[in-house]
Amino acid sequence: MADSSLPDGPEVTRRRLLAIGAGASALAITPRAPAWAKNGRLPDDLFTLGVASGDPLSASVLLWTRLAPDPLNGGGMPDRQVPVHWEISADEAFKKVARRGTAHARPEDGHSVHVEVGGLRSHAWYWYRFRVGKSMSRVGRTRTAPAHGDAVDCLRFAFVSCQNYPTGFYAAYHHMAQEDLDLVIHLGDYIYEGAPSTSGARRHEGDGEPLTLAGYRNRYAQYKLDPDLQDAHAAFPFSVTWDDHEIDNNWAADIPQDPARQSPEDFRRRRMAGVRAYYEHMPLRRRFAGDGASLPLHRRFSYGTLATFNVLDGRQYRSDQTCGDPFIKLNSDCPERYDPANTMLGSEQERWLLDGLAESAARWNVLANQTIVAQYDYDPSAARGFNTDQWDGYPVERRRLLDRFARGDVSNPVVITGDWHSSWVNELKQDFDDPSAPIVGTEFAGTSISSACGWARRVESALGVNPHVRYFDGDRRGYVRCEVTPEHWRTDFRLLPPSSAPGVTVPSRDVPLEKTVSWVIPSGESVQPA
Ligand SMILES: [Fe+2]
Repeated sequence: MADSSLPDGPEVTRRRLLAIGAGASALAITPRAPAWAKNGRLPDDLFTLGVASGDPLSASVLLWTRLAPDPLNGGGMPDRQVPVHWEISADEAFKKVARRGTAHARPEDGHSVHVEVGGLRSHAWYWYRFRVGKSMSRVGRTRTAPAHGDAVDCLRFAFVSCQNYPTGFYAAYHHMAQEDLDLVIHLGDYIYEGAPSTSGARRHEGDGEPLTLAGYRNRYAQYKLDPDLQDAHAAFPFSVTWDDHEIDNNWAADIPQDPARQSPEDFRRRRMAGVRAYYEHMPLRRRFAGDGASLPLHRRFSYGTLATFNVLDGRQYRSDQTCGDPFIKLNSDCPERYDPANTMLGSEQERWLLDGLAESAARWNVLANQTIVAQYDYDPSAARGFNTDQWDGYPVERRRLLDRFARGDVSNPVVITGDWHSSWVNELKQDFDDPSAPIVGTEFAGTSISSACGWARRVESALGVNPHVRYFDGDRRGYVRCEVTPEHWRTDFRLLPPSSAPGVTVPSRDVPLEKTVSWVIPSGESVQPA
């Protein structure tokens, strides 16, 4: 196994070899190759995990799949590289094929395939598929972005987050796949690292939390087997970033949630495995493969002059959460919060973000972000209580960001946020404690696809002392649809009904949407109910 885990080609650097070597040693369980692999013939169904596309630019898009005839047992592929033919067409019948080629699914990539296709027309729909021998994937659909500098009349996208598999079904994805969207942005918690449990709507496979590359691959495979998630990926390109559960709850840089349970060395190995499995399963361009230990996720893309998206990574470079355990803690206004050395983004990413905002000529400037930016005081009394896993743990850095918004040279800043399994509309202010302070931006936090919100009542009890929060719903799962034009930004919270089943958020695939809650920002103005 050790030799086969080495990539060929010139990208083999000493650092990468070391990283891969350490990752390979994390493969505590080596799945046994199935009998059919010995005679060299592959089974007919290799595309069990579906297809995906991602990170569209005006002339190119990333196409993804992973060969996995035995998805929950390491994938079940033989220990050799396999050629995968791909094609992309301007029509669904593949009569107008624009590009085709052959990629190689390699064992060291978990037999995932990341194909960067260039030479495409801007702002155009395409259909794509993969083939290995007689095994053909389903057809996926994708759309390129408008050309740089183009005036764009309208952009429609959705954002999603937090899809804990055991707690509920992905009915939200079923509904989202019917929408008319240019793009989907996933804000993290694509998988959860939790051990199997006997309660809930369905069960994680495996013996415990994933700790190795093999464990994370099986966990991603289980999520990717979901038919509604597959339909959503096949319908639209995704642009993804991660939050904490892709590795470990509330991890921060090289610090796990519970350092008493994981040594620094164990967590370093675990993080390496989680990082690698994330890349293998996401429609990310190959430059995001990283060096095996880290993955440079933050990036920027535009839809003509209409909107520029800054995709953030609030986990990989942050300093540890302040004030002890980061869950909602009353009386947690500790002096440590204000230490200017605390960082959510890390200095390089923060500089990249602030410089990019200053230089942007886009009408709408979007931050695709993990945790809630707006201050939220959870203590309804005169005392204060914060969740220091969110930007409330990093108020000095947040102030620098909001100061940039306030300068007026950033047109229409809008933050879209995941993580907190609930729907929010927040006015952003330089000073949240001053009711007369001007509004410098808007934050929309989207509810989860399926993860539970056990803190909804805690939030509701303190809404009165947080007047900058204009809307909150913690009981409904769903997704968020946004329509952006030069004149307005409209956000539609697409919500499923609350679930009455204990420990289950979405009891079946067939749950219909209950309602849509809409808010609008006229360009240059502040957010209001639609
Ligand atoms: Fe989550």
